[in-house]
Amino acid sequence: MALHEMEDFTFDGTKRLSVNYVKGILQPTDTCDIWDKIWNFQAKPDDLLISTYPKAGTTWTQEIVELIQNEGDVEKSKRAPTHQRFPFLEMKIPSLGSGLEQAHAMPSPRILKTHLPFHLLPPSLLEKNCKIIYVARNPKDNMVSYYHFQRMNKALPAPGTWEEYFETFLTGKVCWGSWHEHVKGWWEAKDKHRILYLFYEDMKKDPKHEIQKLAEFIGKKLDDKVLDKIVHHTSFDVMKQNPMANYSSIPAEIMDHSISPFMRKGAVGDWKKHFTVAQNERFDEDYKKKMTDTTLTFHFQF
Ligand code: PPS
Repeated sequence: MALHEMEDFTFDGTKRLSVNYVKGILQPTDTCDIWDKIWNFQAKPDDLLISTYPKAGTTWTQEIVELIQNEGDVEKSKRAPTHQRFPFLEMKIPSLGSGLEQAHAMPSPRILKTHLPFHLLPPSLLEKNCKIIYVARNPKDNMVSYYHFQRMNKALPAPGTWEEYFETFLTGKVCWGSWHEHVKGWWEAKDKHRILYLFYEDMKKDPKHEIQKLAEFIGKKLDDKVLDKIVHHTSFDVMKQNPMANYSSIPAEIMDHSISPFMRKGAVGDWKKHFTVAQNERFDEDYKKKMTDTTLTFHFQF
C-alpha cells in the first residue's frame, strides 16, 4: 500500500498516523495538510528555537534551556509536561492540538521545538534573527533510539523489524527525512545564522560545560550552584523519574511506554547491542559516501 493511502489512525490502539511527503520529506499527514501555515509561521525576535533530528536529545535540551532561562527554578519547569511547555512547530496530533496554535497562545519568551531540515525551516525564524540551538547525535545511536520510539509511538509509522528499519533509516525514508542531510544542512547553516550547534555525546561527557555554553549563548550568567542544580535535574536518571519530562502524560494509546519507555537508555554506544558486524560494515561504508562533503564529525563511543 502506498504511504499516502495508509488509513488515518484513530488512537484505538491498533492504527497509526498516516504519512505523506512535504517537498520530498516524509511527514505525518496532518503536518502536510497545514504545511502552508507552518511555512508562514510568524516568529518573534525573542523566540528561542531548539532544532534536532528526532531522537537526538531534544527533550533533554528543552529541559536544560528552560532551567537556564528560569535560573534553575525546578518547580516552574514542573508546571506542565514537555509537550505543553514547548510548542512543536510542525506537529499536529488530533487529540493533542497543534504546535502552531500552542505557540500563538503562549506568552513570550517562547521556547519552540522543530525537527525540520534547515531548508524547510519557516523563513520568519531567520528573518527575525532568532537564536537557534541545534543538537546532533551520532547516527548509530540515533537510529536505534528512533527505531524503539517508532515501536512505542503510534503517531509514527510502525518500524517493521530491526533489519527492515536499518534499511529504511539508511535510505532516509523515515519522518523528517535523511539523518545525513539533516545534520549536514544545519551544519552548513550554522555559520550564516545565529545557530549554536551542539552534540549529544558532548552533553553526555561533560554536561556542565555544555550547559555553560548554552547559558552563554542564551545570554544568562549563572553561578556555580545553579549550574550544578541544572546538571542534576537534567541527568537521565532524574528526568526519567520526572513525569513532566518523561512523556508519561501522553495517553498510552499514543505512546506505550510498556513497549519501550521514552526515556530508554540515554547512553552513547548502545548501538553496539543492536548492530550486527555486517550491519556495522554496511553502515560505515554508506556513511563514508554520504559524509565526504562535510567537515562534520561524530563520536560513536567514549
Ligand atoms: S524526540 O521524540 O525527538 O523529542 O526525542 P528526543 O528527546 O530528541 O530524544 C530521546 C532520546 O534522548 C534520551 N534522553 C536523554 N539522554 C541523556 N540524558 C538525558 N537527560 C536525556 N533525556 C532524554 C532518551 O533516552 C532517548 O534516547 P534513547 O537512546 O532512546 O534512550
